[in-house]
Amino acid sequence: MRVQRCSAERARAIMTTSAPGDDTRHIQDGDECWRLDDDASLALNLSGCLPGHAYLAWYGVARTAAGRGLGRRLLATAIKWARGEGLRSIVTYTLSANRNSNRALLKAGFEPYAPDAAWAGWEGVTYWRLELCR
Ligand SMILES: CC(C)(COP(=O)(O)OP(=O)(O)OC[C@H]1O[C@@H](n2cnc3c(N)ncnc32)[C@H](O)[C@@H]1OP(=O)(O)O)[C@@H](O)C(=O)NCCC(=O)NCCS
Repeated sequence: MRVQRCSAERARAIMTTSAPGDDTRHIQDGDECWRLDDDASLALNLSGCLPGHAYLAWYGVARTAAGRGLGRRLLATAIKWARGEGLRSIVTYTLSANRNSNRALLKAGFEPYAPDAAWAGWEGVTYWRLELCR
């Protein structure tokens, strides 16, 4: 099984199996998307960020395939791609109770941070940033 680029439409279709009921609008047309078969998908959004930065809009793995390293592989691929594009950072947020995702982001090198922005500061949310220029 190898990581492949895919359309936003395909990434959304896979998302419906990894997170049934979650809002597929997390993934927008024009996002940079990857998938691992039909078991996992990831979307990076560049249009909603300052130039040189990306927003990890979504990553998810089907429950039947969880805990086997698929999320790690997708994150590593997106990070490698972002470095190659010369991007400076990837940011995202999680529900603080989402321990699996928080752990996976930490393992991939993301660090919690406090954005100095009007949209930040929601209760129960952790904001994450991966600096790519270090
Ligand atoms: C978060 C998610 C993408 C992780 O993908 P995954 O393929 O299951 O995770 P991996 O097997 O690649 O594991 C990566 C790291 O995450 C952590 N992790 C993953 N599943 C875990 C679990 N069940 N319990 C504890 N830690 C877990 C581990 O630290 C792991 O690293 P390690 O094996 O070196 O310890 C997956 O759980 C998922 O799809 N969750 C539902 C959707 C979601 O919450 N997406 C994120 C939205 S913000």
